Amino acid sequence: MNIEYPKGVKQGEARCDAPSTQDILDRDTREIPRVLREQGYTYVGSDDIPAERYFSQDWHNQEVEKVWKKVWQMACREEEIPEVGDHIVYDNVGMSYIVTRTALDEIKAFVNSCLHRGRKLRTEDGSSTSFRCPYHGWTWDVTGEIAEIPCRWDFPHVNEENGRLPEARVGTWGGFVFINPDPDCEPLESYLGDLVQHFERWKLEDCYKAVHVKKRMAANWKVCAEAFIESYHVIDTHPQIMPHCADANTQYDNFDGQHFNRMITTMGVPSPHLTDCSDQDTVDAMTNTQGRQVGAVGQLEVPEGMSARAFMAEVARQRCTELTGVDHADKTDSEMLDAIQYFVFPNFFPWGGFSPNIIYRFRPDGQNPESAIVEIMILHRCDPDKPRPAPVPVHEMTDDEDWADAPELGGLGAVFDQDMSNIPFVQEGLHATMMGKGALSLGDYQESRVRDLHRNLERYLST
Ligand code: FES
Ligand SMILES: [Fe+2]
Repeated sequence: MNIEYPKGVKQGEARCDAPSTQDILDRDTREIPRVLREQGYTYVGSDDIPAERYFSQDWHNQEVEKVWKKVWQMACREEEIPEVGDHIVYDNVGMSYIVTRTALDEIKAFVNSCLHRGRKLRTEDGSSTSFRCPYHGWTWDVTGEIAEIPCRWDFPHVNEENGRLPEARVGTWGGFVFINPDPDCEPLESYLGDLVQHFERWKLEDCYKAVHVKKRMAANWKVCAEAFIESYHVIDTHPQIMPHCADANTQYDNFDGQHFNRMITTMGVPSPHLTDCSDQDTVDAMTNTQGRQVGAVGQLEVPEGMSARAFMAEVARQRCTELTGVDHADKTDSEMLDAIQYFVFPNFFPWGGFSPNIIYRFRPDGQNPESAIVEIMILHRCDPDKPRPAPVPVHEMTDDEDWADAPELGGLGAVFDQDMSNIPFVQEGLHATMMGKGALSLGDYQESRVRDLHRNLERYLST
């Protein structure tokens, strides 16, 4: 099967011949912000990805040493630790940190291990005025200073300096708290780079965590992350959303030199794979799947002379205004409907726009390269005239439960189950391929964000 590129088109430059994302944005009923006009794709090669890196213990160990111990990683939301002494426990690949507010304007991340015999100081999130080890009672104040050692006379060699709890670096952005175990790391702001400016309009710091569901999946963390990184899979994994999802003409931006990339999948327009889809078909499909968490809106009829996209954007504007008390009248159709999905290496996926913002986080399940912790959060806008709502606690699902068993995910639960239904079988197939090709052949463009993830991994692993 040889593909002839149109004359003058180089490898990596070919695109679906349907209207592009930018063509669709041209028809928006509001003025499109500059950030959605940016296009940042560069061809990064067509090499296969070795399957081994999804299950090899040695590869995992290298990721631990050279990636997880070196990168900025999202630990929690700021609103989860509003008062001095509030803390969450952030565990990843054998590392553990107590992320706590030490002053009104200061957050620290302490290595979660007693300096005496190493017991974890905290195993659960909570709030306290000090950290007392349950084993022999060594105690630190919330700033990490040693406050008490029972039988102090037996430890003359422990002093203020060597008795301090070691710390990771901490940074905040968009209402998220990030930690970096590497004391010599670059500042969070430069790590996030242009992302800060991309989200200026969407202000995730003005949101609160309204949904947080967590579940273990039987696959490498990258298998899980990569299930959410492209819209190429819609045709076979989510055929029911095709009447309202422009999958094959999604825009992918890998933003060379940055730690983040992006896709924009426009909604309220049909897939280029469909040849016969009316505006009403689009609206029906969209109301059936409840769009981007605007909730059930019932059956709707698209008004004469209005496109399905403009109509659904208006429905979403009204719903979001009602839900949040924040006027959404000036938000673009794109910001109300589209999957404007960012990915910050290695595992953090914040969605842009103004419909409730979805967040994904993927981590290895401890030191097991064939198991992962998958989390889905949804941020809602805060009503500026009301006190900030408290964030929800984490809803930990059992291995036997489906995502659809989490009612707070609404219509998204069933869609996530479709994604997750592939995941264990991808992991099994990655082993099976070792008797065959032993590698994955990715699309040059539609899977450029998978390539970007691996390019970053290789870069970190080569240091
Ligand atoms: S291990 Fe913590 S006080 Fe002994
Ligand atoms: Fe999906």
